Amino acid sequence: MSDATIQLPTGAPGAQVLGIGAYRPRRVVTNDELSQVMDTNDEWIQTRVGIAERRWAGDGESLVEMSVAAGQQALDASGLTAAEVDLVIVASASLATQIPGAGPEVANRLGLGRPGAFDVNAGCAGFCYALSAAADAIRAGSARNALVVGAERLSDVTDQTDRSTAVIFADGAGAMVLGASDTPGVGPVVWGSDGDQRDAIAIPQGTEHITMAGQAVYRWATTKLTDVLQEAMDRAGVTAADIDVFAPHQANLRIIELMAKRLGLPESTVIARDIVQAGNTSSASVPLALAALQESGEAKTGDLCLVLGYGAGLTFAGQVLRMP
Ligand SMILES: CC(C)(COP(=O)(O)OP(=O)(O)OC[C@H]1O[C@@H](n2cnc3c(N)ncnc32)[C@H](O)[C@@H]1OP(=O)(O)O)[C@@H](O)C(=O)NCCC(=O)NCCS
Repeated sequence: MSDATIQLPTGAPGAQVLGIGAYRPRRVVTNDELSQVMDTNDEWIQTRVGIAERRWAGDGESLVEMSVAAGQQALDASGLTAAEVDLVIVASASLATQIPGAGPEVANRLGLGRPGAFDVNAGCAGFCYALSAAADAIRAGSARNALVVGAERLSDVTDQTDRSTAVIFADGAGAMVLGASDTPGVGPVVWGSDGDQRDAIAIPQGTEHITMAGQAVYRWATTKLTDVLQEAMDRAGVTAADIDVFAPHQANLRIIELMAKRLGLPESTVIARDIVQAGNTSSASVPLALAALQESGEAKTGDLCLVLGYGAGLTFAGQVLRMP
């Protein structure tokens, strides 16, 4: 038996978000358009879910192409060169082919050299899982800078005539570039899973389309996840009064507003409502929502954000981060 000691690199004190990017597909699908092909209406969708319109991807908007566009924007915003990124994580639940994953191709198309590259599928929680993995890799010294992408083409796996899912799910990609920092810019993750509810959101084996037990997921989200958000703040050592921006997964406007109320967020906290225009883009929803708030000027550099992803699995992951 060798008595050699395994050496570990010295990591960074913290990781921070350096840049955010977004890609929204060209085609806008309104509630009125959907009501022509299924028994639904604008009033029901706006009142129950909060969606006014969503985007569905078309030609030239593959999951990888959208990831590359969002990734390039995040990279440009970060001020880093492509060569400085040595880790790529793509979070998605709707990749058309399982082999290979999207990560290596996204890295290659962005000209990043030979970074570590892999995919994460944690349903709609995927981006926050990947964000945590990237931040921890930087802190551990396994990576210097990382690109994290959340990308979905849920329209591919949605029965576009099924009103229980087609009015909700949508497409898009969001991305963040992370780097090392002396002061932590990404807080500890609070993540977990309730696998006994694995059938609540699924593409049942042998079928092509996603199904969702909406009421069960609603109940779970509104009874279990406020505690997760509170714990994410506690573990980061901040309180509701410190939160400038609240950007949870954009699954239902009623859930978002209920969570904000239960957490006791101050009036001044900016609440992400990207769902109104973007629908539920699963693992793309958190970075897309933050990109929109940054673009509108509602979220500013240095703002403290509380984020949360949750979905199929059932899985959840939340953390606090600082806006770049
Ligand atoms: C999906 C969701 C919007 C459905 O809303 P809901 O209020 O629970 O709706 P229900 O399924 O109870 O249906 C209520 C009624 O509306 C009808 N309905 C369902 N979908 C409809 C639609 N698209 N248009 C019009 N009517 C619809 C139902 O048939 C039902 O009619 P009934 O009362 O006559 O039987 C909601 O359950 C939800 O947001 N769940 C959580 C989703 C989530 O967080 N996912 C997370 C990860 S992706």
